[in-house]
Amino acid sequence: MTTAASIPSPGTPRAPEAVFERIPVVIADDPGEACKQLAREIRSLIEQRQAAGGTAVLGLATGSTPVPLYRELARMHREEGLSFANVVTFNLDEYYGLTRDHPESYHRFMCDQLFDHIDIRPENIHIPDGTVPPEGILQHCQDYEGRIDAAGGIDLQILGIGRTGHIGFNEPGSTRESLTRRITLDRVTRQDAAADFLGVENVPRFAITMGVGSILKARRIVLMAWGENKAGVVAQAVEGPVSEAVSASFLQEHGNAAFLIDRSAASHLTRVRSPWLVGPVAWTPDTAYRAVIWLAEKCSKPVLKLVDEEYNEHGMSDLVTERGGSYPVNIDVFNRLQHTITGWPGGKPGADDTNRPERAEPHPKRVLIFSPEPQDALVAMGGVLERLIEQGHDVRFVAMTSGSLRVRDEDALRFCRALLELSEHSHENSWGGQESEAERLVCLLENKTAFDPDPPEIRRIKALLLRGETRDACAVCGLDRERVVFLYLPFYERGRYRRFLVGADDVEKCVAILRDHQPHQIYATGATADPSSLPAVTHEVLERSFDQVRPEPWAGNCRVWHYRCRETPLQPEEISMAMPMSPDQLERKARLLLGFQTISGMELAVCDENRELAATYDRLGLAEYEAIESLQRRR
Ligand code: F6R
Repeated sequence: MTTAASIPSPGTPRAPEAVFERIPVVIADDPGEACKQLAREIRSLIEQRQAAGGTAVLGLATGSTPVPLYRELARMHREEGLSFANVVTFNLDEYYGLTRDHPESYHRFMCDQLFDHIDIRPENIHIPDGTVPPEGILQHCQDYEGRIDAAGGIDLQILGIGRTGHIGFNEPGSTRESLTRRITLDRVTRQDAAADFLGVENVPRFAITMGVGSILKARRIVLMAWGENKAGVVAQAVEGPVSEAVSASFLQEHGNAAFLIDRSAASHLTRVRSPWLVGPVAWTPDTAYRAVIWLAEKCSKPVLKLVDEEYNEHGMSDLVTERGGSYPVNIDVFNRLQHTITGWPGGKPGADDTNRPERAEPHPKRVLIFSPEPQDALVAMGGVLERLIEQGHDVRFVAMTSGSLRVRDEDALRFCRALLELSEHSHENSWGGQESEAERLVCLLENKTAFDPDPPEIRRIKALLLRGETRDACAVCGLDRERVVFLYLPFYERGRYRRFLVGADDVEKCVAILRDHQPHQIYATGATADPSSLPAVTHEVLERSFDQVRPEPWAGNCRVWHYRCRETPLQPEEISMAMPMSPDQLERKARLLLGFQTISGMELAVCDENRELAATYDRLGLAEYEAIESLQRRR
């Protein structure tokens, strides 16, 4: 994989491995690095225009993706004196129906993330107005286009990409010529915003967005994407046909557009996923493993039935030539795949562990399972947790944050009303006297909207509700209540989704639990997620904490296993441990998840995903299981 030094512009020669790509793509090591590159480009644009006495016109996006870019621009202003006084901005979109000061409005987002931290002139900021009455929308949209033209057009347009392939809010079906207009949001887009809005039912149905045509008029366009979740749609936009089904694919027709993505978001590009289709590869055991599984899926055949011709037809003839035929290659891959399967996630004591995913000794192991919000690890690896306990390991389930942002007001209200009733009818016993407190809580909840920030006592109640549900769910897996640890990391209490900032206090708490338990195994998530997402932020806390304890003797003996949460599930070739589940076990998992009031339909679908993975293993020629949970070993 190559990391280009700068974001390509017209004339930059295309790398030979990019033959399948119809638009220049830069794969950066990490989003922070990528955003620094783009921020440098923005700075030079602003400075050039300053020198010439002109303005720089930027098209801006919201959402998780540009957050690190805006932080870097704010830093450049603060520490390097970069002035935005000559900058004019046009935002892509705004939810229809939200006022400017709504916590989830894009107006508010832009102020919080960028405008409040730089010296831009308020009159130079343009964001579609989500409050124009229906009869004024057409005029408002035409005026927006007019303002862009009057500013001289957009010099540099920043974009993110939605899982529907949208740029701005141009959902599938948007035409190449579309201009600023009101649009109905796609179901997937609304689901992706559900956490921010405390439930999909609160996500606005409509938005005002610049059109594909408005975006394509920009002189330069850079689309950013981070994290595993974007990998599929990035590959479609970059390598697929230009189509209204994926509006980002229209960027292929722009002469000066580039994609700036991280390794996770690049993982479905042909040059990364199946480089043997692009040119000769050095066949390491890992590459051969990925390639053969890919081939088996492509040919819809079990691994052991692949033949030389199929290797030849799919760019892998040199592999079979090198190895003396397809059969030895098939056997190697089949064995390795089979060795990922284990019913002993903590290692099988006394067994030969040469080919097992986890060491047999020591037994029992000390295990820490880190869950960003309390339910996350149970969704991803409830079955593994149950096995670890059954097999006698010393497990602590660590809920990293309180999860209170997930709990709806109505659930807290139901609880507080019950408390009130209990105290009203219990004057003779110890509940008497609690009445006024319960009344106060009910009153607080009745008088707030879902988006007013929760006062500390309401946050506490929400956290306690989730705490109880988590303990109950862990108990279904056989874990004692006192082994469920609640870290309540402070960053979560200070922030909102997409806007969390890790502090030294977070790391301190996490280091303490690591030192206290000195685990042989850690289960964690978020390594390949969008950096502003909660799993990624908690992963950052864990990484920084582990860096502090790394020199300690126990740390060298600790294995880290990653599960996927709120991201695309692991693909078979990425799995290092596959833990089969029986029908009963899967049913128990579904039941324990249903114990969470906050559980979403998407999270419940994990049981189908576990079944689907078992079917994939079956298709590859392995034993037929009901369901499989998967983990990846990380070093
Ligand atoms: C936001 C916008 C959208 C987002 C896209 C990705 O102004 O226009 O196209 O860029 O939905 O959102 P995130 O970055 O939150 O994944």
